[in-house]
Amino acid sequence: MIKTMRNPVRGPATLIACLLLFTGCGTFHPLERGGEADGLPTAPGLSEDVSFASNVKPILSQCAVCHGSGAGGWTYGGGATAYVEARTVVDPGDPAASLLLAKASGAVSHGGGAPLPSTGTKYATVLTWIEDGALDN
Ligand code: HEC
Repeated sequence: MIKTMRNPVRGPATLIACLLLFTGCGTFHPLERGGEADGLPTAPGLSEDVSFASNVKPILSQCAVCHGSGAGGWTYGGGATAYVEARTVVDPGDPAASLLLAKASGAVSHGGGAPLPSTGTKYATVLTWIEDGALDN
């Protein structure tokens, strides 16, 4: 008969290690970097705090200057259909690679330059919104 040896320390130790792993590392939140005084929340703590209507839409309003008329194949008027328009260039499965961010940050050559540099708070806000599933919130 096989006797299973059970180390009495192992159970609790594993549990503590798991707890430390989850609480100790936490989740890095891009908005905690802050830095830009543009009136946007810099440290909401919870990613749920990023809303399309309140945070993302105001940032994207500057894109409408060119994209309102469909420049470069992306139509973004920033009005009532803003969310639907924004979602066409957003990929929640690969947030940072979303065409919206790649173009707006200039990571991919963009006719409109780099209005949202990847080091800025606006970029971080939009990225967090996409990472959260790019919801119509
Ligand atoms: C000064 C005008 C201008 C502004 C402002 C501008 N863009 Fe553009 N954008 C262009 C032009 C021109 C193109 C087409 C050439 C290219 O792909 O770079 C383009 C292309 C794009 C594309 C690619 C569309 C496609 O289907 O290939 C995306 C996405 C995009 N822009 C996003 C943005 C976002 C997001 C903003 C605002 C943060 C923005 N743009 C602001 C001029 C602009």
